[in-house]
Amino acid sequence: MDAGAGTGYYLSGVLDRVPGAVGLAMDISKHAARRAARAHPRAGAVVADLWRPLPVRTGAVDAIVNVFAPRNAPEFHRVLGRGGALLTLTPSVRHLGPLVEALGLISVDEHKDDRLEASLAGHFALESREGLDVEVALDHAEAATLVGMGPSAHHIPPDELRRRIEPLAEPLTVPLSFVLSTFRRLD
Ligand SMILES: C[S@@+](CC[C@H](N)C(=O)[O-])C[C@H]1O[C@@H](n2cnc3c(N)ncnc32)[C@H](O)[C@@H]1O
Repeated sequence: MDAGAGTGYYLSGVLDRVPGAVGLAMDISKHAARRAARAHPRAGAVVADLWRPLPVRTGAVDAIVNVFAPRNAPEFHRVLGRGGALLTLTPSVRHLGPLVEALGLISVDEHKDDRLEASLAGHFALESREGLDVEVALDHAEAATLVGMGPSAHHIPPDELRRRIEPLAEPLTVPLSFVLSTFRRLD
């Protein structure tokens, strides 16, 4: 199950690597769910709010993927079977580097990893944590698209965003920096 699956891009990648597995994309956006349902021949999709009881039978899921999306520890615990895995991808403090200050984006709390672990405590135990770092060269339009996908989009009107991007170098090298955490369901 991909919780907060968006277009189903990551669910599709997982299904490609696990022959025979079937995947469920869950998202509050019906547009996202519609796309995710077509992301892979072995994927289905459901529109659901991750903060509400999930429309999934208890113990029916082997693994949950959660990429930059909300996490509901009690419900993730309920739908996973014994020994089930929860894989989360979250931004590290280095994520988007120079863009954060230059554009006034919401920054990543340096204690985010600890807060994530605390929010899952009692339901999940941290098994491993891995850093993933890449760099991309963005033109201004790509930088605007990237910011538009994130939480800062709600805080910076599009015209203001374009004004802040204008003086930046083009292309601009930007770090994409993630933490992949694997949690194991506690009995
Ligand atoms: C930053 S996007 C990540 C999408 C996808 N995981 C990816 O990485 O491509 C966050 C996703 O979570 C979904 N989402 C946000 N709040 C949600 C909620 N309460 N319940 C279900 N989905 C939610 C959004 O609709 C969006 O598709």
